[in-house]
Order: sequence, then structure tokens, then C-alpha cells
Amino acid sequence: GVFDDQPKPLAGRRAIVTSGPTHEPIDPVRYIANRSSGRQGHAIARALAKLGAEVTLVSGPVTIADPDGVKTVHVESAREMLAAVEAALPADIAVMVAAVADWRVAQSAPQKMKKKPGEAPPPLPLEENPDILKTIGHHANRPHLVIGFAAETHDVVAYASDKLARKGADLIVANDVSKEGVMGGTRNQVTLVTREGTESWPDMDKDAVANRISDWIAAQSGKK
Ligand code: CTP
Ligand code: CA
Repeated sequence: GVFDDQPKPLAGRRAIVTSGPTHEPIDPVRYIANRSSGRQGHAIARALAKLGAEVTLVSGPVTIADPDGVKTVHVESAREMLAAVEAALPADIAVMVAAVADWRVAQSAPQKMKKKPGEAPPPLPLEENPDILKTIGHHANRPHLVIGFAAETHDVVAYASDKLARKGADLIVANDVSKEGVMGGTRNQVTLVTREGTESWPDMDKDAVANRISDWIAAQSGKK
């Protein structure tokens, strides 16, 4: 099969990875969404599989291909993503990389909304989506390692530390998306935030970030 020649420190471990954006319908032809290519999440799913983990990738709508060697479940909305993640439990490792839409349209229209001459644009009341990372971080069936991402434009470490505590995560991988070329790009510069402290990594390819995070996970999984 694939990756036959690699050492397998995560053999026998189950991992769940979320990736991509979610789409929250406004009507059958429109949606609200976050910006996300899925590149970083898909790369992490692939890297964990390479280390021997049995990986379920729960992906929102992306244009990139399903990675080899992982089970990919395709979803659209945040609520579908949460259901797919819970269906993939139990797991040893959860890595929530998806850019989940924080809000959905409270009442999506069953039919296409039409412009009416002389009428004001329709209001779009929103309601909050479930927090998938927080749900899994506090789950009765919580994976041993729960990891989140935080894309911030300022005060990166402070916000990441707050998310670590609030969401019950063991690690937040924080990145500064105000830097050019990160969103939708192939490179990333991340800071790891744990209860023990922070560690900044140099700017590197998203595949290299994925490999190093997977090595970090393998090292933690050894500790227990
Ligand atoms: N996340 C999630 N479900 C949500 C929102 C976020 O699982 N409804 C996860 C993301 O996948 C990521 C982490 O939580 O791993 C942080 O996401 P982020 O958007 O930075 O955090 P929020 O809590 O939504 O805070 P804000 O957007 O206000 O900064
Ligand atoms: Ca958010």
C-alpha cells in the first residue's frame, strides 16, 4: 500500500481531522463561508496517515483532491461537520483545522430569493453554530489529544491561550493570517501554544508544518 517504507509510530491510533471551510446556506444558490483552501488540514491528515494512524478526514467544500490513504467524509455545514466528527469517535487524536463558519443563517430559504423592484435587501438574521473543537474537547468520549488551530490577525498568542483553555484543547496551533500569502497559499508560520508554554516555528511549506505537527503528536502519544 501507500507509505509502506515509513516508520509507523502512530500504528493502531485513530485520528480525526477537520479541514476546509463550511458552507452555511442562505437559499439553494447562496451561502456564507470562511476563506479556506483545506491545504493545511488535508496535509495533516496525509502526514498522520504516513505515520501509521487510521485517519478520518472530515472536509468541508474544497477544490483539492481527497488525500490518499485516509477515509474522507464530505460535509457542507458546521452542523454536518460536527455530526460526522462525532460519528468518527472514538479516536485517540483529534485535529480541528477547519475554518468553521461561526454563524449560520437562522432561516435559510427553501427557494431562491428573488429581487423585487423597489424593495430593500432582505435582512439575514444569524445564529451561532456549534463549536466542534469545544464539543470534542469536553466530550465524554474525548480523544487523548485534542488540537485546534487559531487564525488571528493580531494578539496571536493571547487569543490562542484563551482558546486552549476555553475549548479544552491540549494544543493550539496559532498563525498570523495578516501575513501575506498564508490564506489560500502554500506556506505557513505557526506558533504552538500549550499549557506548558509557546514555541514558534519558522516560515515553512504547509506540508512541512503538517509533518512537524504529526511528529509532535507522535512524541506526545508516546508519553501518555
Ligand atoms: N472551531 C470549531 N467550531 C467552530 C468554530 C471554531 O471547531 N464553530 C475550531 C476551529 O476548527 C479551530 C479553533 O476552533 O481549530 C479556533 O477557531 P477560531 O475561529 O479561531 O475560534 P473561535 O472560537 O471561532 O473564535 P473567533 O473566530 O471569534 O476568533
Ligand atoms: Ca471563528
